[in-house]
Amino acid sequence: MSRIYQKLNFKPARFSAFFFRLFAALGLVGGLLGGAPCLMAQRALLDPTQTVGVETCRDCHDAIVGSWEGTVHEKSLAQLTQGKTAAEILAHVGLGTDRLTAEGSCVRCHFTQESLAGAVQTTAAVSCESCHGAAAEWIDVHNSKSLTRAERVSQAKAVGMVHPDDLVATGRMCFGCHVVDDEQLVNHGGHVATSSGFELLSWYSGEVKHNFLVTKPGRSVKSNGDEPMPIPVERRRMLFLVGKLLHLEAELRAMARCADAPVDAEGHLVQAEGGGPTYGVAHALAIQKIAQDMAAVTRVLPLKEYDLALAVMEGVPMTTGHGEEFAAAAAEVGRIAEAFCTSHDGGGLGAIDPILGAQRDRVASVGDGR
Ligand code: HEC
Ligand code: HEC
Ligand code: HEC
Ligand code: HEC
Repeated sequence: MSRIYQKLNFKPARFSAFFFRLFAALGLVGGLLGGAPCLMAQRALLDPTQTVGVETCRDCHDAIVGSWEGTVHEKSLAQLTQGKTAAEILAHVGLGTDRLTAEGSCVRCHFTQESLAGAVQTTAAVSCESCHGAAAEWIDVHNSKSLTRAERVSQAKAVGMVHPDDLVATGRMCFGCHVVDDEQLVNHGGHVATSSGFELLSWYSGEVKHNFLVTKPGRSVKSNGDEPMPIPVERRRMLFLVGKLLHLEAELRAMARCADAPVDAEGHLVQAEGGGPTYGVAHALAIQKIAQDMAAVTRVLPLKEYDLALAVMEGVPMTTGHGEEFAAAAAEVGRIAEAFCTSHDGGGLGAIDPILGAQRDRVASVGDGR
């Protein structure tokens, strides 16, 4: 029996018949006993000795910092530390409230730390470096006028910058947090398993969007514009299409870490703390949703990379205890995403524009008691 059953007094689940059928269709019912998870790399903590902090970015990217200040990513520092949900999750996993901004297991996805006057301090929630990488090594090189654009970009990437030129690396950052990869945090702590409805293009295009840079004639580096620029249609298509592949990769990777059985000894579905589906069920459902979305894309735009990725996904038994297979499938889908970016630039993919047009830019309702 896996750890969770010893620690929690699970009641047989009150799942709806619909949910149960879905679950049976996914094959998860067969996974009675948990298996060993495959411990793939999780999103890592930013090294506080390598971060420079938002105020340093503000020196040159004032408008971008200003737009970030209105987002949930920024506001959640106050909201999480003042709200009661975080304290409840911490209590479920046996930690005090004071650990929220200190515990690596929360900080790696929620906060940015800096080493100030020799002490590690939490200075922001999800900030510039959460998405673009800790900047100490790349900050000088990324804007260097004495290098060509290609040199700046490649040298900055080589020392850890997650550069927007690299769609795969940039998108992976989002999924590293938005697909929660810690099973006990979900099953035991009652934390959500995945951001419901996350879609890369629309979730970037709302409150998070900050495309302020413009290329001015005669300037060797880009300059700040007054307004965020629209995302070119080719890039929107790429964000959407690569986003699905990266989402699938992240969900398969999360499944690789799944060890707890979805059903108890009597075969009843179990629920996570707080009543939601367990980690394995939530991620399996997310995979099913992504596969449906990808199939809808291939009906209007045949893509061999999507066919390949769907075949990889279908080849994995959707039960717990198959960590190695999920890990291998995640790695394969990751390679397919990389290859997709090498062979496409968004041109000639206009058949998906009606699907893109139906996406709503994601703007969170802030101040709702989070
Ligand atoms: C000294 C000024 C300066 C500072 C400080 C600075 N930047 Fe930049 N940044 C620039 C300039 C100039 C460019 C445009 C480079 C180019 O055209 O290749 C740029 C480009 C970027 C880009 C890539 C955009 C693109 O497509 O070319 C990102 C991402 C970025 N900066 C993030 C940051 C972050 C995050 C910080 C803080 C950790 C930061 N910058 C601090 C001046 C600066
Ligand atoms: C793998 C990344 C990850 C880790 C680790 C993580 N979180 Fe989260 N957390 C998220 C994401 C992403 C969301 C937003 C989910 C959504 O879209 O609904 C979230 C949401 C929350 C919320 C709800 C905020 C709200 O709006 O109501 C709380 C509270 C929370 N996390 C607390 C914690 C605590 C406490 C820990 C450590 C014990 C932790 N989280 C660890 C990624 C993570
Ligand atoms: C370091 C972890 C992390 C990264 C990287 C990250 N996010 Fe988030 N994001 C979060 C957390 C945590 C929340 C929820 C905060 C809360 O409610 O307290 C969130 C909230 C959001 C929200 C607002 C909430 C909502 O439901 O609409 C949007 C939109 C969003 N993220 C989009 C993105 C996109 C797009 C990317 C990648 C470009 C990204 N995030 C990268 C952790 C992250
Ligand atoms: C949630 C993740 C996330 C956060 C937080 C974030 N960025 Fe970005 N940033 C991105 C993504 C994704 C892009 C690429 C957008 C695109 O493809 O159009 C980007 C693009 C940029 C660019 C290039 C804009 C352009 O016009 O080409 C700069 C400069 C930049 N970010 C700086 C910053 C700074 C400074 C901060 C902190 C205030 C910050 N970013 C916070 C994800 C993030």
